[in-house]
Amino acid sequence: MSAIPQTLTERERIEVTVGEVAHGGHCVARHEGVVIFVRHALPGERVVAEITELHPGYARAEAVEILSAAPDRVTPPCRWSGPNACGGCDLQHVSEPGQLAWKEAVVREQLARLAHLPDHPVRVEQLPVPGSAGERSRETPEVHSADPGWRTRVRYTVDAADRPGLRKHRSHEVVPIDECMIAHPAIRALPVLGRTWPGVEAVETVAPSDGSALIIEDPAAKIVEHVAGRDFTIAASGFWQVHPAAAQTLVDAVLAQLEPKPGETAWDLYGGAGLFAAAVGSAVGVTGNVTLVEAAADGVAAARANLADLPVRVVQSTVEHALSPRRSKRPGRGGGGGGKMPLRGGAAQVQGPVDVVVLDPPRTGAGKKVVDAIVAAQPRAVSYVACDPAALARDIDFFQTHGWRLAQLRAFDCFPFTHHVECVALLTP
Ligand SMILES: C[S@@+](CC[C@H](N)C(=O)[O-])C[C@H]1O[C@@H](n2cnc3c(N)ncnc32)[C@H](O)[C@@H]1O
Repeated sequence: MSAIPQTLTERERIEVTVGEVAHGGHCVARHEGVVIFVRHALPGERVVAEITELHPGYARAEAVEILSAAPDRVTPPCRWSGPNACGGCDLQHVSEPGQLAWKEAVVREQLARLAHLPDHPVRVEQLPVPGSAGERSRETPEVHSADPGWRTRVRYTVDAADRPGLRKHRSHEVVPIDECMIAHPAIRALPVLGRTWPGVEAVETVAPSDGSALIIEDPAAKIVEHVAGRDFTIAASGFWQVHPAAAQTLVDAVLAQLEPKPGETAWDLYGGAGLFAAAVGSAVGVTGNVTLVEAAADGVAAARANLADLPVRVVQSTVEHALSPRRSKRPGRGGGGGGKMPLRGGAAQVQGPVDVVVLDPPRTGAGKKVVDAIVAAQPRAVSYVACDPAALARDIDFFQTHGWRLAQLRAFDCFPFTHHVECVALLTP
């Protein structure tokens, strides 16, 4: 096992040349044989890095002084960002094209390392932001002057002096702020910052697409999101895509990949409030059907209410449990013999065959058992919506062991100024 680096101490400042970007919002540097993950830096830069954490085999650091800047470096537009400051954004110091290139490099690297797909082409597409006329792109810089506020859900933490703010990176320490520039303009207009919140741990806010922004005082309060001509009534603190254009963008990408046809059967796994099941259900029509699997009670209740007019069955279960054969008891031979009851496999709650599958797991990914069960149901296509490229790449590799292939990969910048990126992968047998 690697030892904690002895050559470095916490808070020590060292000069390093910064290497390639790595998943997690930092770049890799090496100092006297030790790997150092450096935040607030860019590949090729010479920086003074302050060591923030020492771990077996590696260290973490922040670039506190830039000795030679990379061409993609910009002055962070947010004054609360930087070393030892607000941890909400990772890429404030990177130009817009630089942020896209950064995320492309990360996705490419995860595919190469974990899915054994070296040099797979990756292009990160930008989403429209509030106030912009349409699609942003590297070629249309004029829409870049639109409001950068894309976060329609913000949870401000309250510090010991009752001031609201955001946490430092990898810390519980709160940085009181007077504005979060990536918060949606409607959230920024709420009376949250610039006052104290005695007796409150955190202030949660939401700006739904339909209706006014609000401070969530009752987590069961309902809000309405509007996507693709449908209303989705959901719990205010329940899961929903955070970027205002993400839900529509991802639905379009999934439909384009799967091309669901009337009469087909579909699964929407990790279905939440039914965003994808609604779109696929409309496409397969009354002669087809969709089974949505979701573990969280608020998501299930919302899906049942929102999709009542569509051929969608909503199953409340973990996906792992719903797709695995149930263990059922068989009476022992000779009746009442007292020994252990043997178990046998029963029918899974959700059984194949199925034509198409939408797979949208949390950051941990779906895992081998879920992938095996999907493959066993013999779909013609799977559209995998992924918020973590590492988990996606691991799961792609599980599909590949069954002879499946990555037929298309799209990536979207649903989280500007942070290191996060959303991918939509088409997998086919
Ligand atoms: C990334 S969200 C996607 C939700 C939905 N597809 C959407 O776009 O609105 C993942 C969802 O999976 C649910 N979830 C997490 N772990 C689960 C599991 N093991 N089985 C089923 N659902 C799970 C969460 O409650 C959440 O609703």
